[in-house]
Amino acid sequence: MEQQNKIALITGGSRGLGKSMALHLAASGTDIILTYFSKKDEADDVAAEIEKMGRKAAVLPLDAGELASFDAFFGQLSALLKSRFGRTQFDILINNGGMGATIPYAEVTEEVFDRFLNVHFKGVYFFTQRALPMIADGGRIFNISTGTTRFCVPGYSVYASMKGAIEVFTKYLAKEAGERGITANTLAPGPIETDFNNAAIRSNPQRKTFLSSLSPLGRVGEADDIGKLVALLCADGAAWVNGQRIEASGGINL
Ligand SMILES: NC(=O)c1ccc[n+]([C@@H]2O[C@H](COP(=O)([O-])OP(=O)(O)OC[C@H]3O[C@@H](n4cnc5c(N)ncnc54)[C@H](OP(=O)(O)O)[C@@H]3O)[C@@H](O)[C@H]2O)c1
Repeated sequence: MEQQNKIALITGGSRGLGKSMALHLAASGTDIILTYFSKKDEADDVAAEIEKMGRKAAVLPLDAGELASFDAFFGQLSALLKSRFGRTQFDILINNGGMGATIPYAEVTEEVFDRFLNVHFKGVYFFTQRALPMIADGGRIFNISTGTTRFCVPGYSVYASMKGAIEVFTKYLAKEAGERGITANTLAPGPIETDFNNAAIRSNPQRKTFLSSLSPLGRVGEADDIGKLVALLCADGAAWVNGQRIEASGGINL
């Protein structure tokens, strides 16, 4: 019998880290369903690049902070899995999509707090709850956190607090999903030069130099540092890593 490719669902696969994860996972033989929030064309380009590699790829819209849309999303996902992949389940969930902002604690409004809560914590919590029955036994879940749950960056209180909550949630998820052989880990990148937080690193050379100086490796991260790592963590050899916070930050702020 022909062996079936694994399928990964990556939220926020149109740009940055999610795009790199999608491309590296596809290069290692995984079919990809990626979501976008505002950039459909970019998401379609990523899917086209994956198909050129001979893998299957599909694109769905998602606002991870809009919980009322999840019913429709999972309906679409279910139909897509059947029609395009001939399956009812997928194998790897990567909760990656989201935004950043630098807002001093004194200026955080309830509106901003609620948006970060919904996208980065409540959305991920309930999206994963909905996804679990559709993840095959033996599957893997990765929740993308941040180095800033370990070290503090002024203006990141609201963002990092939600990511901290995700790290606790991930351990509980590992505990309960383990009975189906599903692992759950947090992956915490350090500063990476992407569009994140209005391209805070790329658009500010001084900030980039400063952040680079905090790492023993003397640079900030690139999206591929994380994409390559995700492909490694999804390989058979990483099956015993479970319930962990894996920081990939080049050793910043040791
Ligand atoms: N870059 C860093 O320094 C860094 C460090 C640590 C952790 N992270 C985390 O890594 C993840 C990806 O960041 P990135 O650097 O790749 O940022 P990015 O380049 O700005 O890409 C963000 C991705 O998330 C999607 N997205 C934005 N808002 C969303 C929402 N409400 N619902 C679902 N998807 C949404 C975007 O979709 P569209 O393109 O369609 O808008 C895009 O695909 C985030 O969770 C971020 O917190 C980033």
